[in-house]
Parts: sequence; structure tokens; C-alpha cells
Amino acid sequence: MRLGVNIDHIATLRNARGEKEPSVFDAAKICINSGANGITTHLREDRRHIKDDDVFYIRKHLDCFLNLEMAVTDEMQEIALKLMPDACCIVPEKRQEVTTEGGLDVFSQQDKIKSFIAPLIAKGIKVSLFIDADEKQVKASHYTGAEFIELHTGAYSGAFNSPLEEAEFIKLKNSTKLAQSLGITVNAGHGLNYINVHRMHEIDGLNELNIGHSIISKAVFIGLDNAVKEMIRLIK
Ligand code: PXP
Repeated sequence: MRLGVNIDHIATLRNARGEKEPSVFDAAKICINSGANGITTHLREDRRHIKDDDVFYIRKHLDCFLNLEMAVTDEMQEIALKLMPDACCIVPEKRQEVTTEGGLDVFSQQDKIKSFIAPLIAKGIKVSLFIDADEKQVKASHYTGAEFIELHTGAYSGAFNSPLEEAEFIKLKNSTKLAQSLGITVNAGHGLNYINVHRMHEIDGLNELNIGHSIISKAVFIGLDNAVKEMIRLIK
């Protein structure tokens, strides 16, 4: 499985002081040099962590697979077409939420999503839709023409080590199978950490995991390079 490291919270820390440290660019470089397959950033509408300059600077100065997480807005579509990341992951976004709380409801806006992602796909950007592990969301994603989905693993992570874990895990497994049968490549992410990530090996053919908070948290104690290498050891 590939690892995309989400470095949003390096920016959270930097923004807390309003100065330049820690450098988001240096963090991206360390992740790539430590073996990560890509860098993931969520350019939120309110720019609470990653800023426009961060993504454009990384794109220009670092040779890496760049995955831009973004909401379904005209502003973000325009930025993505200018930035030309390798991948775009389309996520829902609510201003008040602390983090992305649920998957994108593709089912109730299939045609809107289809026309939103079409120009991105036409430019060669790999588009994935961040959805809950739900049959109707997987089928709707297929309808839009997206070649990738990212399954929201938040419910599984939250249920880990509880009686609900198995049910959440089965949903991930079944949605992956269904998506793969439709020709969709499946990624996963959200809430994954050093303790719960091992079960992702039980899901055949998962392509990529996008992990942020747990890696950046561990980096505080053991350094970012070690935190990335340790996660890679667990998922390879
Ligand atoms: N994937 C997506 C689409 C996300 O929105 C996020 C959180 O920004 C992540 C992965 C990473 O989640 P976490 O920080 O919990 O590892």
C-alpha cells in the first residue's frame, strides 16, 4: 500500500504563532525522503491550516506526488486547474467542523459532482471522491466517472477495539470489493493510527492510505522522519 502523508497539522502549528516555523515545505521534503509516496494537503475554504502559497511552493520546488483535498467549489476547481496536483480528493466541508466529519454525499448530487470533476479528469488529474463505506455512495461515485474513491475510515477508527469494530470493518471491506468490481481504485483514510492501521492489510487491493494526525503527533516525540518510517513499516 502507498502512503500519503497529510501535513496539514504542520501548518496548524506554524499558524499558531503566525510565523514561519515549522516549515510546511521542509516537512513535505522529510516525508518524501523518509519513503512516503506522496504529500496530501487539504486547502480548506477558511485556510485554517494549509495556505495557497504552501501548495504552490511544494508543487514548484518538490518532486513528489501531490494530492490536493478540496471542497466542491468554483474557487477550489480554479486553484486545482492552476496548481495541477497529481491527484485531487473531493471532500465535503463544513466551516464549523474540527475535521472532515463524514464522507461526501455523492448519491444526492451525482450530476453536480460529475460535471465538477470532468475538467480535472480531462487535464489528467487523478480524481478521488472521499465517501463513506456505503453501497449507494460507491455506485454513485462510479456514475460520476471518478476513477478513485477514498473510503472514510473514521467510523472504523472510532469503533476500533469496541463491539462495533467488526461491523465498520466489514463495511470497508464490502465497499472496496464493490468499487473494485466497477473498476474503481480504492484509497482509504481518516483516523488511522499506529494501532488500528494493521487491519487495512485484510482488505485486498487497497491502493493508498492517507494519514495525517497520528503521524504528525508521533513526530513530536520521535521526529517526522522516524514517524513516517514507522508507519511505512506497518503498512508495507
Ligand atoms: N483523508 C481525507 C480525505 C481527509 O480529509 C483527512 C483529514 O484531513 C485524512 C485523510 C487524514 O486524516 P487523519 O488526519 O485523521 O489521519
